[in-house]
Amino acid sequence: MTAHKTALIIGASRGLGLGLVQRLQEDGWNIVATVRDPAKAGALDKVPGVRIEQLEMNDTVQLDQLKQRLHGEVFDLVFVNAGVMGPLPQDLESVQVQQVGDLFMTNAVAPIRVARRLAGQVRQGSGVLAFMSSILGSVSIPEGGEICLYKASKAALNSMINSFVVELQRPDLCVLAMHPGWVKTDMGGENAEIDVLTSTRGMLAQIKAQSGNGGLRFINYKGEALTW
Ligand SMILES: NC(=O)c1ccc[n+]([C@@H]2O[C@H](COP(=O)([O-])OP(=O)(O)OC[C@H]3O[C@@H](n4cnc5c(N)ncnc54)[C@H](OP(=O)(O)O)[C@@H]3O)[C@@H](O)[C@H]2O)c1
Repeated sequence: MTAHKTALIIGASRGLGLGLVQRLQEDGWNIVATVRDPAKAGALDKVPGVRIEQLEMNDTVQLDQLKQRLHGEVFDLVFVNAGVMGPLPQDLESVQVQQVGDLFMTNAVAPIRVARRLAGQVRQGSGVLAFMSSILGSVSIPEGGEICLYKASKAALNSMINSFVVELQRPDLCVLAMHPGWVKTDMGGENAEIDVLTSTRGMLAQIKAQSGNGGLRFINYKGEALTW
């Protein structure tokens, strides 16, 4: 059923983006995957059949160029995965304006710029537009205060997704704000609860399960609904 499906993964050089590409490839999808620096695509280069495109998400010229290169293509899945932790420690007294700006631009604004350019190319009826959010973006949860700026950036992303969906006026489109679990990646660290395989396998299952269900949902890799 998925033999000829096509996915676009934004931010696939490593971690969860790379894992998503690997799961989709195993599942028979055609894949376009973006990296900031194609010369450092590393493990992504080893995944057979993947088309690699360059994108620094914070650069609107690169965003427009990517849109032009993808002109006319239709995607069953667009997954905006890229994100950053921001400065550590997340000390509100010493953090610089530029650091806060970079964090919120990358995690909350740039994903919507991507979506604005590409949502029209997500397949009518069955396509899925997914954003990599986090349970930490849920404003009411007490955990994670030591990374409060990151938390706030994901809460901002969730809010931006909500505004974007209202702006888009496409009730057929399935839009997911996805929590991947706490995952062992460069960002998640060695002490995280699950590995990339478990997380990405779960997320792919949820993407397939949600296909065709128009509307916006905030869910985790197991398909459990999360509180905004
Ligand atoms: N790991 C977890 O436990 C966890 C939990 C909840 C949510 N998340 C979210 O999941 C996503 C992936 O995280 P990860 O754990 O896989 O982190 P990661 O290993 O640090 O990978 C981050 C990815 O984002 C890319 N990226 C960062 N800034 C970018 C930009 N401005 N333009 C384009 N690409 C950019 C990186 O590219 P480069 O290689 O070029 O730097 C890399 O491919 C993030 O949005 C993160 O917030 C992770």
